[in-house]
Amino acid sequence: MSAFDMLQTHAARLRGSRTAELVATDPARVADFSLRVGPLYANFARQGYDRAAFATLVALGEDRGLSAAFRRLFDGETVNVTEGRAALHTALRGNLSQATAAREAFATACEVRRRMGALVAELEAGPITDIVSVGIGGSDLGPRLVADALRDAVPGQLRVHFVSNVDGAAMQRALAELDPARTAGILISKTFGTQETLLNGAILRDWLGGSEQLYAVSANPQRAETAFAIAAERVLPMWDWVGGRYSLWSAVGFPIALAIGFERFEALLAGAAEFDAHVLQAPLATNLAVRHALTAVWNRNLLGHAAHGVMTYDQRLALLPAYLQQLVMESLGKSVKLDGSPVDGDTVPVWWGGAGTDVQHSFFQALHQGTQVVPLDFVGTLRNDDPYAENHLALLSNLLAQSEALANGQGSDDPHRRYPGGRPGTMILLDALTPQSLGALIAMYEHSVYAQSVIWGINAFDQFGVELGKQLANGLLPALRGESEASDPVTQALLAEIRSRG
Ligand code: F6P
Repeated sequence: MSAFDMLQTHAARLRGSRTAELVATDPARVADFSLRVGPLYANFARQGYDRAAFATLVALGEDRGLSAAFRRLFDGETVNVTEGRAALHTALRGNLSQATAAREAFATACEVRRRMGALVAELEAGPITDIVSVGIGGSDLGPRLVADALRDAVPGQLRVHFVSNVDGAAMQRALAELDPARTAGILISKTFGTQETLLNGAILRDWLGGSEQLYAVSANPQRAETAFAIAAERVLPMWDWVGGRYSLWSAVGFPIALAIGFERFEALLAGAAEFDAHVLQAPLATNLAVRHALTAVWNRNLLGHAAHGVMTYDQRLALLPAYLQQLVMESLGKSVKLDGSPVDGDTVPVWWGGAGTDVQHSFFQALHQGTQVVPLDFVGTLRNDDPYAENHLALLSNLLAQSEALANGQGSDDPHRRYPGGRPGTMILLDALTPQSLGALIAMYEHSVYAQSVIWGINAFDQFGVELGKQLANGLLPALRGESEASDPVTQALLAEIRSRG
């Protein structure tokens, strides 16, 4: 019997059982289903598997060669087979592989980081007070998350504003508050061919009155230099071997270093590198990223849950769900395996989320009593850095209460007041929100995503699904200008409506 067949037997046995019952029959489960890695603690006791089922999940991971797959990733082998590339984001933050590709990548990354540090120092010393960072997707979400999460700790640093959307209102609003004499711009684009970034970059250049205060980060640096006339010393490279959504550790993190300081940027990388070492060294059963991934597989493939939520109980992490949506759904939103054959079962669920306690007063009703069961990650921080101790206790009490209420539910004679419970949740706690702990948390999610991709046999590093819409949009620009017609009848009718009213 394969590990997956055995898992189906476990799932049939465990379906409908309460985690409170599992704890009652196995009290040591609460401690044994928890893991600590540096500043991260995670507890899986409210997931619906027991020890036997989890052992079989680990066997599945062994069958699918997870340990060797991590080695291949860190060694810079061609894990992105459809594009013939490595995915060496781990080499941006550490030197954990002896393989030539990884060592060279590490050396190159260190060299570029030194250059970036010098640019940060220059900007900090000059008249600039504000930075506008222009980029989208992986060239925006990571820097935006980290800069927002860690900015309070360092008052007096440069203020960084992020503009991503092609909607001109985004740029208009950002620029309205700024003075061109005190503002610098960073254009971030791996390809330097992204419509949004090129359009917004041109607006910013014109508003600044030229390219003197413009910087760029790209794997296509010549294009940045020629298209925007940015001097080569202000263009920082990135490389094909870094995926966009895995790139915040590279020069794509320039806005982070400007927002929180270069030293803290390096501490972020160090936190991620410490987690990388854990991923490489820990056996599958006690490997936090692997456990997170196996839990996701259990919920998706064995219990059939089609959505997954991440709820942050730390306002500073409010952008984490948006960041994870790209990391997880762009990486795992695939339906063919590496060899092009259809996958064996479901892959990524819909990922979404928000910040507690706000979310409790919006969509948590559906999580408590709706017909869909949505497994959750609760992400909380134990130490607050604001002066409002009572608020922090209230925040933590809500975090604990929601996890307990969703898992255990509560009976009632009145069906309207009955809480079914049985909603799985993983508790992830950071000792404090620091560059190190945030680096570790993000690395944990990156590695969980990779482990899931290995189990499903899919490529976590390409994203061909986003191309068709981009091509169609480019083709429709002339139609919107009235220079051509659309071929699709529905689009034709919509264009007619736009022309008559727009
Ligand atoms: O449209 C998706 C995407 O290709 C992402 O994968 C990427 O992070 C984003 O666009 C931005 O791409 P670039 O950094 O090349 O501008």
